[in-house]
Amino acid sequence: MTVSITIDGRTVKVREGATILQASRENDIYIPTLCDDPRLEPYGGCRLCLVQIKGMARPVTACTTPVSEGMIVETTNEEIENLRRTIVELLLSDHPNDCMICEKAGDCTLQELAYFYNLRENRFYGERRQYAESDGNPFIERNMEKCILCGKCVRVCNEVQGVSAIEIAYRGFSAKVCPPFEKDLDCEFCGQCVSVCPTGALMGKLSMGKGRQKDIEKVESVCPYCGCGCNITLHVARNEVIRVSSRPDSLNEGWLCVKGRFGFKFNSSPDRLKHPLIKRNGRFEEASWDEALDYVAQRLGEIKEKHGADAIAGLSSARCTNEENYLFQKFMRAAVGTNNVDHCARY
Ligand code: SF4
Ligand code: SF4
Ligand code: SF4
Ligand code: FES
Repeated sequence: MTVSITIDGRTVKVREGATILQASRENDIYIPTLCDDPRLEPYGGCRLCLVQIKGMARPVTACTTPVSEGMIVETTNEEIENLRRTIVELLLSDHPNDCMICEKAGDCTLQELAYFYNLRENRFYGERRQYAESDGNPFIERNMEKCILCGKCVRVCNEVQGVSAIEIAYRGFSAKVCPPFEKDLDCEFCGQCVSVCPTGALMGKLSMGKGRQKDIEKVESVCPYCGCGCNITLHVARNEVIRVSSRPDSLNEGWLCVKGRFGFKFNSSPDRLKHPLIKRNGRFEEASWDEALDYVAQRLGEIKEKHGADAIAGLSSARCTNEENYLFQKFMRAAVGTNNVDHCARY
C-alpha cells in the first residue's frame, strides 16, 4: 500500500508506514540527522531532523513521524534551518574544541554540521562536562566529553549485538553513556558502537595516532577470519592497515565481530610468514614454493607407501573459497586416496 504526500512541493508516492525521513531519503531529499541510523529503531533524540507539516502548530521529527495520505511536508525553510543551527550550536557549546587533533576530524557528522552552518563563534556559554579518560579496556577509546548523547551506541549494543553493555546513566546535564557502575568497558568488543558513533566519542584504540583521514586509502576486502566472509573496508595509511570498517550497504550491513573489526594487526606483524619454511637439521629454513611443494609431495608419497593412504588426513580452512575447498577434498580423495578430510569452520 502506498500513500501520496507532498515534500518540498513534490508530490510523491511512498510506502504506507514509512517515516517522513525514509520517504525523503527514498526521493533524494536530504534531511540532516545525528541520532538516526536506518538499521536501528527510530529514537528522536537529536531533534535535527525537524520538519514542518502543514496544519501542525509545531515542527516534528521526521525520523519518528509516519507519513499519511495527503500530508504536506516542508523539510527546509528559514525557521527550520534556524532551529537546526541552534541545536548544533547548543551541542557545540558543551563540546571540546578539539578538531585540530581529534582522530574523527574529517569523518565527523558534528564537524560537518558546524561547517555547514558556518558556526565559528558560539552564542552559548556555561559549564562544560569534564570527564577523566580512564577506560582501561584494550580496544575502545571512550571520550565522553565528545558524546552528543545520540544513543546510537546504546541501541546498536542492545538491538543488534544483544549485549546491552552500556546505557545512558544519570539525567539532564549529568547524563552520560557508560557501562554498569561506570566500570571499564568489559564486553564482546565487537566495536559496533564505535562504527555508529557520529563523533569522536568512541574510537578504536588500535588506530589512534596512526593517520588522519586525508592519509587513508580505503580498500574493499573480505574478512579473513571465518566462513561468513563479511565485507570489510581496510583503512590503509603509509602501507599499513590501521583500521577496519564495513559499509552499511554491504551484505553484512556494516556489522562485524571483534575479530573482523579489531584483529588486523597480523597484517603488518614482523612475525608473519611470507615464505615457505622447511625444517632441516632441527631448524626452519626459508624455501621456494617449488622446493616446498616437491618436499610435501615426496613425504606424502613415502607415508602412503609405508602406512597406506588412510594414515594421511587433510585439514582445510573456512578462509578458503568454496572452490578451493572443493579442490582440496578432491585432491585428498582422488590423488591421495583417503576420505580423512575436514575443515575448521566450527563455532
Ligand atoms: S568529535 Fe568531531 S566536532 Fe568533536 S572534536 Fe572531534 S572532529 Fe571535532
Ligand atoms: S563493543 Fe560491542 S558489545 Fe561492547 S559496548 Fe560496543 S556494541 Fe556493545
Ligand atoms: S558515544 Fe557516540 S554513539 Fe554513543 S551516544 Fe555518544 S555520540 Fe552517540
Ligand atoms: S534524526 Fe530525528 S531526532 Fe535525531
